[in-house]
Amino acid sequence: MIKVGIVGVSGYSGFTALELLLRHPNVRVTYVSANNTRGKISDIWPQLKNRTKLYCDQFDVTKAAGQCDVALLAVPHTIAMQITPKLLKAGVKVIDLSGDYRLGSVATYKKWYKATHTDPRNLRKAVYGLPELYKEEIKKASLVANPGCYPTAALLGLAPLVGTHCELIESIIIDAKSGVTGAGRKASVAFSHGEVSENFKAYKVLNHQHVPEIERYLAKLCTHSKAINFVPHLLPVNRGILETIYVKLSSRVRLNRCHKLYTNFFKVEPFVRVFGLEEQVELKNVVKTNFCDISLALNDQKNLLVITVAIDNLVKGAAGQAIQNMNLMCGFSESEGLL
Ligand SMILES: NC(=O)c1ccc[n+]([C@@H]2O[C@H](COP(=O)([O-])OP(=O)(O)OC[C@H]3O[C@@H](n4cnc5c(N)ncnc54)[C@H](OP(=O)(O)O)[C@@H]3O)[C@@H](O)[C@H]2O)c1
Repeated sequence: MIKVGIVGVSGYSGFTALELLLRHPNVRVTYVSANNTRGKISDIWPQLKNRTKLYCDQFDVTKAAGQCDVALLAVPHTIAMQITPKLLKAGVKVIDLSGDYRLGSVATYKKWYKATHTDPRNLRKAVYGLPELYKEEIKKASLVANPGCYPTAALLGLAPLVGTHCELIESIIIDAKSGVTGAGRKASVAFSHGEVSENFKAYKVLNHQHVPEIERYLAKLCTHSKAINFVPHLLPVNRGILETIYVKLSSRVRLNRCHKLYTNFFKVEPFVRVFGLEEQVELKNVVKTNFCDISLALNDQKNLLVITVAIDNLVKGAAGQAIQNMNLMCGFSESEGLL
């Protein structure tokens, strides 16, 4: 049994992590905190009444370090990098759900997150927590940078192809749609019901902070760097991400062979489901699960492969993936508490 802390438990990702961990057979949640939110968890999250007696207080590094073996940081970027070095120094393993440790470079971080990175030492050491690509590294890590929600879908959708057909790829367009919980719980006009409901819009077109993350980890899969065109959209649903990825190839490929490539690549992965050639992924099949569903289609006249990927942004895109990483770091079965 390990002791786990959740920093940022009053937010959507923190709540999702707590809800999952309360059912995890090898975990006792011993510490929860937030920033301004205080009180019994059962008051903050009435869904959890009678399931926990935990009390949420303001984050305190001494308490956190004394009370947990592993900490999940479900806090905004820039906050995570203030907390992480202190927890690591106290011997606590850290899984950071924010963007603070994903980009590997202080300059890239500054460019995309508009802030100065204050923990470059650990930035260099962090392991990217996409288990389908970095399982062995994650098992040995003390700091895991949990991937962003959009990059999780994009990288799982592209990894098999980019890893083997890199030289054939002429362009990649990622048309991404996310539910509103992707923006966190904090209220803002843009995310209020009146603005989102019965509406659909693009935002941060070609300029989202997940672009460098996707490009960085695609580049590790192939010899030529791959630029992407990424356009996120806000869907009027609570949760879920669906990405339609258009890959233009310079010569003909066979759909059956691509499909075989994908099914082989993910053969042993418990959470990636490659759909049959007649099937299309849908949000409703992945919401509230840690699954990533993938389907493929090909326009063979135009050598255009279309990869469609669906995940739940709060589970495979955040808290579920963090728990998958925690399982690997602690020697548990990868899917413990998640199936
Ligand atoms: N939402 C998603 O789909 C998603 C997916 C992948 C990754 N992420 C990342 O996960 C992190 C959390 O996202 P979220 O959507 O769950 O956010 P959220 O709903 O806005 O919650 C943020 C949490 O962080 C706490 N917090 C804020 N400032 C803090 C501070 N200075 N010290 C300690 N705690 C602080 C908040 O506490 P108070 O309530 O007291 O303010 C709250 O508990 C973010 O970095 C986000 O980018 C989110």
